[in-house]
Amino acid sequence: ERRAEGSAHAKTILLGEHAVVYGRPAIAFPLASLTITALARTTTRGLSLETPYHRGSVARDDGTSPREVLLAEAALRHTLDFLGKPHHGVDVTVTGSIPAARGLGSSAAVASAISAAVAGLDGVRLSNAERFELVQFVERIAHGTPSGLDAHATMASGPILFERGEAHPLAMATLPPLVVADTGIRGHTGAAVAMVRARRERDARGVDASLDDIAVLVAGAQADLASGDLAALGERMYVCHGILSELGVSSPELNALVSAARQAGALGAKLTGGGQGGCVIALAPTAAAVPQLAAALTAAGAHGVWSVTGSEETT
Ligand code: MEV
Repeated sequence: ERRAEGSAHAKTILLGEHAVVYGRPAIAFPLASLTITALARTTTRGLSLETPYHRGSVARDDGTSPREVLLAEAALRHTLDFLGKPHHGVDVTVTGSIPAARGLGSSAAVASAISAAVAGLDGVRLSNAERFELVQFVERIAHGTPSGLDAHATMASGPILFERGEAHPLAMATLPPLVVADTGIRGHTGAAVAMVRARRERDARGVDASLDDIAVLVAGAQADLASGDLAALGERMYVCHGILSELGVSSPELNALVSAARQAGALGAKLTGGGQGGCVIALAPTAAAVPQLAAALTAAGAHGVWSVTGSEETT
């Protein structure tokens, strides 16, 4: 029996979701405390796949999710096709802690971990470009027209600026004290992206103006991060949440967590990822204030709160 492992981490978008689908830039951070690991083993049987998403240990509060299993299976089969291998003789066990459908990149991370593990069985180390293409194949099944941001951000070892299809390391004066809080409600990135598209078909000028406003916030945030101006960065996050709300991708639960963050003294907060459920990202005034902000978000009903540490290795 041969064995190989692959792993990937969660991601969180600081600014630029949805606008990035229409070619605008975005900024994303790795969320190192949430990871997915895939263990691939050769077997004498067919193909088998076990994921936390159908055993209930990760998405335990929302039960079985055949969709996540389908995506994992697509990653497995597509990687075997890429390697020119038959669809049998491989057993894959996926474990990990990224909750599904929360805008944290679980579908990209699962696909990334599986493709690395399955290729590793053959002694193949995928290049980043190959891994990106394999993940994008699955992301297209997951939500139609993925920008590629999730695929890059779940492989990146640090914060990235994603622009014109490419990920660049992001220069920062200091790591901003960011926390991510989960509403506990599944968001549907595909549905949220489709909704923005439908709205844009009705009102191209209005929606494009909003997307341009988000692009301006991203450019400003890039400068704030470089100079360490957290107050300015936070204000841009609040403004961005307002724009995303107008685009229709927020929800009462997301708005409640953003308000709770504001009341707890956060410099900024907004939804992160596809929206309509999922998570918010909030900026504490200092690293020392992170526990208090996390406690306030938990008190406001967050199901999980994670701090953004800024870097993580991917295997
Ligand atoms: C999802 O994490 C981010 C979106 O911008 C979709 C995408 O980039 O493909 C909503």
